[in-house]
Amino acid sequence: MVKYSPLTTEHITKIKEIVHYENVFQDAETLLHYGHDYTEDLNFPPQIVVKPINKEQIAALLKYCNENKIPVTPRGAGTGLSGGSLPIYGGIALSLEKMNRIVAIDKDNLQATVEPGVINENLRIAVEAEGLFYPPDPASKGSCFMGGNVAHRSGGPKCVKYGTTKDYILNLEIVLPSGAIIWTGADTLKNSTGYNLTQLMIGSEGTLAIVTKIVLRLIPKPQHDLLLWAAFENAEQACAVVPKIFHQGLVPSALEFMERKAVELSVAKHKMSFDFGMEQAYLLIEVDGNDITQLHKEIESIYNILESNGCNNILLAEDATTKEKLWKIRRSIGEVVKSHGIYKEEDTVVKRANLPQLYNKVKSLEQLFGFESICYGHAGDGNLHVNILQGTMTDAAWKNDLPKVITTIFETCKALGGTISGEHGIGLVQKQYMPLVMSKIHFQLMRGIKNTFDPNGILNPGKIFPENY
Ligand code: MLT
Ligand code: ZN
Repeated sequence: MVKYSPLTTEHITKIKEIVHYENVFQDAETLLHYGHDYTEDLNFPPQIVVKPINKEQIAALLKYCNENKIPVTPRGAGTGLSGGSLPIYGGIALSLEKMNRIVAIDKDNLQATVEPGVINENLRIAVEAEGLFYPPDPASKGSCFMGGNVAHRSGGPKCVKYGTTKDYILNLEIVLPSGAIIWTGADTLKNSTGYNLTQLMIGSEGTLAIVTKIVLRLIPKPQHDLLLWAAFENAEQACAVVPKIFHQGLVPSALEFMERKAVELSVAKHKMSFDFGMEQAYLLIEVDGNDITQLHKEIESIYNILESNGCNNILLAEDATTKEKLWKIRRSIGEVVKSHGIYKEEDTVVKRANLPQLYNKVKSLEQLFGFESICYGHAGDGNLHVNILQGTMTDAAWKNDLPKVITTIFETCKALGGTISGEHGIGLVQKQYMPLVMSKIHFQLMRGIKNTFDPNGILNPGKIFPENY
């Protein structure tokens, strides 16, 4: 385990000079807040919280920390689900929240430039006012930062049609631990100029550099959407119909899966009226575009596919209120499941058509070990969020068996052509499972990259790499 010396009074005085006194926080409440994110029940308070206001401050700060081997853990809105922003070695929590400007929206080129502290939803609203669209829409879109989305290569329901964060980033301004500031690429739609440092940064979870500006590609805003809610008598049937929709040449703009239990919790939380029958699982299917007649044809084709695959309880959301209600049910699931008891969330992803096998494996493990599982997620992407709840398992069994359960689920993902995270990242809590999907050679290559960017290991230490790799 790496050891970092605690910050001295002298360090803290110097840091206050670099980023100005009003941007440095040391009170107990702030330290506690910045010591946790949305990942289970973890808390690693930093020694100080720093909220710089520009790249020059960040460059001077990193240079100083690099020279003094002070750990720096970057942080967006703290909505991460893999513990990526937890300052596990203390030191500095570097919050990007004060760098929250939408710098430019370039309508001619369908691009926007933003600082890392811009909230995903604020960007969406701003570009939509110009008739433009930024598709990636994590469940936490109302609070998560664009910098965090870049760090975790985030997704969301719209990604099944439009791709994830990685498909929208053209160029990044970054600060290296040396204090150097560079742009990783160019603001162009095409770029065949050497190694793709932009993509290398996306998903690097703040372990290589600090992103200070993001240039994004936008698309024209689709004018219409239609939404179907389909109820199935069993979950396997719901998962199995998903590839059949794509077979017919249809590409929904969302194709989400929810188990009944997930919907029950969400509906109860919002005190909504909901008519439950015998169904055990649901698909939420959206199509979007500019030609409403064409969209009705697509929805009819999807309706027919669902019906001929055993689903005879299908609702077309007739108005904006119904659409909003259905999306609220889906988008709240993550949060309500987390408040339901002791849990561990896995962000499994497999080849789309293999989803039924993954689902069945989770359920067979549930039988074997006695936990409770609640599954939901982005079925169109083969991305299943598996929530493992302690249920009636004893504390000892939970502690002892949980790693076995997770290992088996991840091995199943690998065998089904998938991997251990689709959109939440590795961070702290998944790193021990990385050897299941990456070899020593992978780690050697990644370690070489890490050492090139961050030779003193000051940036987000203790993340992604398992211990002793
Ligand atoms: C979701 O799709 O709802 C999120 O990725 C998962 C979560 O918030 O737990
Ligand atoms: Zn998700």
